[in-house]
Amino acid sequence: MFKKVSGTKDILPDEVVQWRRLEEISHEVFGRYHYQPIRTPLIEEAGLFNRSLGTTTDIVQKQMFLIQRQQDTYALRPEGTAAIVRAYLENNLDKTSPFIKLYYLGPMFRAERPQRGRLRQFHHIGAEVIGSRSPQVDVELMDLATQLLINFGVTGYTLKLNTLGCPQDTQKLAGLLRTALEPKQEKLCPDCQSRFAGNVLRVLDCKQETCRAIVADLQFSDAFLCAECAAHFQEVLRGLEGLGIQYQHTPVLMRGLDYYTRTVFEIIHPSLGSQDALGAGGRYDTLVNNLGGPETGAMGFALGIERVLLALPEQPPAPQTPLIYLITLGDSARGKALLLLHQLRDAGLTADMEYTGKSLKGALRCAHDLASRFVLLLGDDELQKGVITLKDMRQATQQEIPLTECLNTVQRALAT
Ligand code: HAM
Repeated sequence: MFKKVSGTKDILPDEVVQWRRLEEISHEVFGRYHYQPIRTPLIEEAGLFNRSLGTTTDIVQKQMFLIQRQQDTYALRPEGTAAIVRAYLENNLDKTSPFIKLYYLGPMFRAERPQRGRLRQFHHIGAEVIGSRSPQVDVELMDLATQLLINFGVTGYTLKLNTLGCPQDTQKLAGLLRTALEPKQEKLCPDCQSRFAGNVLRVLDCKQETCRAIVADLQFSDAFLCAECAAHFQEVLRGLEGLGIQYQHTPVLMRGLDYYTRTVFEIIHPSLGSQDALGAGGRYDTLVNNLGGPETGAMGFALGIERVLLALPEQPPAPQTPLIYLITLGDSARGKALLLLHQLRDAGLTADMEYTGKSLKGALRCAHDLASRFVLLLGDDELQKGVITLKDMRQATQQEIPLTECLNTVQRALAT
């Protein structure tokens, strides 16, 4: 028998109920913040991600699912930001809507080693604001990310944030980091030893315990920031405080993608173990230009749906739509069944029937197991007389009614 690909998940009907709840809340909350939905393809040219995320990032070096077709190399999208900037530019939104607030929900793909909270196909709820460098956008996005979590019912999360400054500042930060790490270089994991030489900032994002411990001991000041970036960050902090949003300024917070500038943030949850980020984001003020567009600011975030679900308390089962379950006895009755179901469904009711040829006893047990509110019993004799038996499972009553009155009687009973 075939098995699902390692690191992917089947989302079965009971779980879909929870997924839909998150999706519906997301559409509603994004609507309130005046974000517009966007959908981009699941595959893009691999070069888009090499260029946007950076060639020294783990995603580009190890985690892209690549598809080679003749001369072209495509990638299953590992994240949404690069694709959205590509769509913004390709569809001339930089000219028609230079300032735009977009959101998206959908699957992303990374060839990581699967573990709890780390999948190869996972799902993002994300937002991207393109066309402004205002620190108020940073604050709105962090407010939005935390409001989504609050509306989902997640509690106990921590918002960590930091600033990387402009690219010149980030260079200075890399220099400081190299000096600080030099004496400990040999204790770093093999990956970080090569990161030390290539892109030392990646060490800050390493998930290995030894490297995490070394990073936790590092002391940084904000001295590497230029005056403008320092002022931007102060304004972001003031904005968060004004909204009463609690945060932890975490000077060692880096992100695993190269496009970030200035504000970066992560929302972590203690129930998630080593994969503790529920979501993350930041500014990417150079990406639009880097992909061939104008010099303009942008920022966004993405929450991981699977991790949000892990952090949510056990959800009570969703209330059932009252179900009308039809059981037929005899060939003529069976012939009438689909028309009867069609009429009930057409009137907006949820109706189903016994399809597998169970005995009356078995069919009634099935209706009970499905928590049906009503059972309709139709035999050939009843059909001839133009009647049907309606059992109200909640009231434990039963009555024979004219077939033509079936819909009205059910609707009246539901209204009481
Ligand atoms: P990211 O930190 O790579 O950022 O992913 C965002 C979130 O997706 C993570 O915090 C985590 O919840 C979830 N996630 C990431 N990888 C996995 C995985 N393998 N399995 C399960 N969940 C995962 C981005 O992707 C950026 N595009 C976010 C952003 C938007 N920055 C600016 N705009």
